[in-house]
Amino acid sequence: MYKIKVISATVRPGRKGPLVGQWITEQVNRHGAFEAELLDLGEVNLPLMNEAVHPVMKQYEHEHTKQWSAKIDEADAFIFVTAEYDYSYPASLKNALEYLVHEWAFKPAGMVSYSIGPFAGVRAVSSLKADLLSLKVVSLLEMVNIPMLNEYLTEEGAFIPNERIIGNAKIMLDQLLRWTKGLKSIKEDK
Ligand SMILES: Cc1cc2nc3c(=O)[nH]c(=O)nc-3n(C[C@H](O)[C@H](O)[C@H](O)COP(=O)(O)O)c2cc1C
Repeated sequence: MYKIKVISATVRPGRKGPLVGQWITEQVNRHGAFEAELLDLGEVNLPLMNEAVHPVMKQYEHEHTKQWSAKIDEADAFIFVTAEYDYSYPASLKNALEYLVHEWAFKPAGMVSYSIGPFAGVRAVSSLKADLLSLKVVSLLEMVNIPMLNEYLTEEGAFIPNERIIGNAKIMLDQLLRWTKGLKSIKEDK
C-alpha cells in the first residue's frame, strides 16, 4: 500500500477544506492501492516559518517542524486540497511547503481545488503547480476542480459531490498510482 497524505490548505475558522479533504481521503482509501491520511493545516497549526537554518540542511530546532517533517517524509504521494484565495492558493499552504525540502522531493501530487464561485480554484492550482516545481514535486495533469462549492454542501455540513466530480477523482487516482510507482524508483535510485 502506498501512503498518501491529503493536505487541506486552509486554516480559517469555519473553513470548508476539511469537508472536501475528508471526501477525497475516503475515495483514496476505497481505491485499494493507497492508505490515506488527512492533514488539515488548521490543526497542524504551523507558525509562520521560524526555523533558523535553511530546510535543505534538515537541522530542525522546533518540535512542530520535526513532526511536520516526519509526516511528509512517510508519504509516497500527496493530494493537495485547496481553495482559491485572491487568485492564488492560501498562504498557509505556502508556509507549510517552505518548512521542508527533501521530504517533498520526487513524489507526485494530485490536486482537488474548489471555490464558491464558477472558477473552481483553477488559478490556485496554477500558482501551486509552479511553486511545487522547485520542490521537485510532480503535479498531475488530471485533477478535480469543484466550482460553486455551496451547491454540494448539505445543511448538516456534508460534502456530496456529483458524478462528474467522483469520476474525475477516480481518473486522478489511477494516474496518481502510476506516478507513485514510477517516482518511487527515481527517489530510491540516488
Ligand atoms: C481570503 C479569501 C479569499 C478568497 N478569494 C477567492 C478567489 O480569489 N476566488 C474565488 O473563487 N473565491 C475566493 N474566495 C471564496 C472561497 O472560494 C470560499 O470562501 C471557500 O469556501 C474558501 O475555502 P475555505 O472555506 O476552505 O477557507 C476567497 C475566500 C477568502 C476567505
